[in-house]
Amino acid sequence: MIDIKEWIKDRLKCDEERYLHSLGAEEKARELAVRFGADVEKAVLAALIHDNAKCFPYKELVKIVEDNKFPIADDIKNNHKILHAFAGAYLAQKELGIDDEDILNAIMYHTTGRVEMSLLEKIVYLSDKLETKTRPPEYLDKINKVLDETNDIDKTILLTIDLTIRSLLDRKLVINSQTIDVWNHLTTKFSN
Ligand SMILES: [Fe+2]
Ligand SMILES: [Fe+2]
Repeated sequence: MIDIKEWIKDRLKCDEERYLHSLGAEEKARELAVRFGADVEKAVLAALIHDNAKCFPYKELVKIVEDNKFPIADDIKNNHKILHAFAGAYLAQKELGIDDEDILNAIMYHTTGRVEMSLLEKIVYLSDKLETKTRPPEYLDKINKVLDETNDIDKTILLTIDLTIRSLLDRKLVINSQTIDVWNHLTTKFSN
């Protein structure tokens, strides 16, 4: 039986802060799963291992994604920052034997999000952004304020996407099409 904490620690040994981030996400996932009535065990596991492929070199990530024919758009295939999420889902299945589709999807979509995320996917998406061990307090304050005022997980996700898109624009970086789709979907939902 694999010790998952040891496994993720070993996977992330190139980046100590990333391991801390993973522990923080695990903690936040527990809190959010209880708050929104999701499966706590699944949420905690998915959040703990969501970044397991983060230390892989770009070429290896591309190989995993191509060998396994992930149905992903070209703008994502070229984006190292996003590929780790797809490869991470594959490795969780291959190395840990995780077959639960909801857990694998939560890992796969933790960076971009996707339209019609499951509750578990939303919780892991937010746990990645709202963990308190490495994320800056001013960023957390803005998002937690909306979460606490509305207690609405979609409104909270919409704000994180707002902040992400602004930050990408400021840094003149690519905005992936899937995140824009989520933005459009949620903005439409709340404008009606
Ligand atoms: Fe990630
Ligand atoms: Fe992360």
